[in-house]
Amino acid sequence: MQISSRAKHAKAEGAFEVLARAQRIERETGMKVVHMEIGEPDFPTPKGIIEACKKALDEGKTHYTPAGGIPEFRSAVAKHLSKTRNISVDPENVLIASGGKLLIYATCVTFLEPGDECIVPDPGYPPYQSAVSLAGGISIPLPLTEENGYQVTAEELEKRITPKTKLIIINTPQNPTGGVLSKNELEKIADVVKKSNAVVFSDEIYSDLIYSEEDQHFSIATIPGMLDRTVLMDGMSKTFSMTGWRLGYAAVPTEFYGSMKKIVNNTVSCCPAFTQIAGIYALEGDNPEVHMMWEHFKERRDIIFSLVNEIPGMSMIKPKGAFYAFVNVKPILEKYSITSADLAEIFLQKAYVACLSGSIFGKQGDSYIRFSYATSKDDIQRGMSQIKKLIETEFPT
Ligand SMILES: Cc1ncc(COP(=O)(O)O)c(C=O)c1O
Repeated sequence: MQISSRAKHAKAEGAFEVLARAQRIERETGMKVVHMEIGEPDFPTPKGIIEACKKALDEGKTHYTPAGGIPEFRSAVAKHLSKTRNISVDPENVLIASGGKLLIYATCVTFLEPGDECIVPDPGYPPYQSAVSLAGGISIPLPLTEENGYQVTAEELEKRITPKTKLIIINTPQNPTGGVLSKNELEKIADVVKKSNAVVFSDEIYSDLIYSEEDQHFSIATIPGMLDRTVLMDGMSKTFSMTGWRLGYAAVPTEFYGSMKKIVNNTVSCCPAFTQIAGIYALEGDNPEVHMMWEHFKERRDIIFSLVNEIPGMSMIKPKGAFYAFVNVKPILEKYSITSADLAEIFLQKAYVACLSGSIFGKQGDSYIRFSYATSKDDIQRGMSQIKKLIETEFPT
């Protein structure tokens, strides 16, 4: 008996693996680990959203729904995307899925034949490469560097486009770097894309988590001529602290909509009605908690930025969005001949801080560690203080 090479090559998502290990250490040692591995807001889902869901359950909204989503939620999403991206999205083009992650997979399966190429950011969200490989495609990494603020440059993109390029994944604000793509660079990227046969998958799951006035979220789909060749994905997980609800959505060009819907329909059938009804409240109701969470993330970003830069051998540039600190640890790795995976493990075992090795996100992440700051201020301070003490005593640079 044999498993397919596709299944063999797909990786489990590192954040979930580290979380499981950290929880085991907590059980076995009784020590409290500071959890900075998983990208999940530590706040409860806003009350109004929960109430809307409870009401839907009480009203018996517990059955299958249309595969693309219930019309009312698709309309709410279309209105939301049209307003926030300054485009005109028809509800007929809105595809609801149980999480943005499923939309990544559905897109890869829809556009990639075996051997086709998909350009992915490096460092980038690991499920991109897994989805490409599950679809039989080949990932072509597009390096993002600290020196240029983790921008995708049109020039570097163009160098990697071949006749086999069928899909280009971009992500802004970005996981794991916190980089935000500028309108100016996205316009140049769009010019390059238009010369190719590729479709763009624009992952905008952190669109509401940008922390400065001058870095507004901008979608490539807003650029004239791009809406018809872009799958624009966003979802409820990060903005509304709804990770466990599994609710994401995409604006999909008419030409591809039916094919992508079939992938959703043949995997999860549809999304629960009660979560979609809660989703309508999230997009259209009054949720003061959302701004409060944004303020906390901004404050935590500033705290972790200054604490990291006080640790010898560790440094970072200020992330503009999302909720991750992508920390350069090259001086430590070089001096002690260890990898970022080794260092992340040392942080877990000796400083009781769970974090992710940058190498999980691609080759360009080899000298980095990712800390999620979607955790309390106290935990960030405690975690960074434990790491500082460890570095000063055991890994001075
Ligand atoms: C860049 C990026 N895209 C997509 C997702 C998936 O989000 P969802 O919970 O909607 O599946 C994540 C979650 O961490 C992410 O970081």
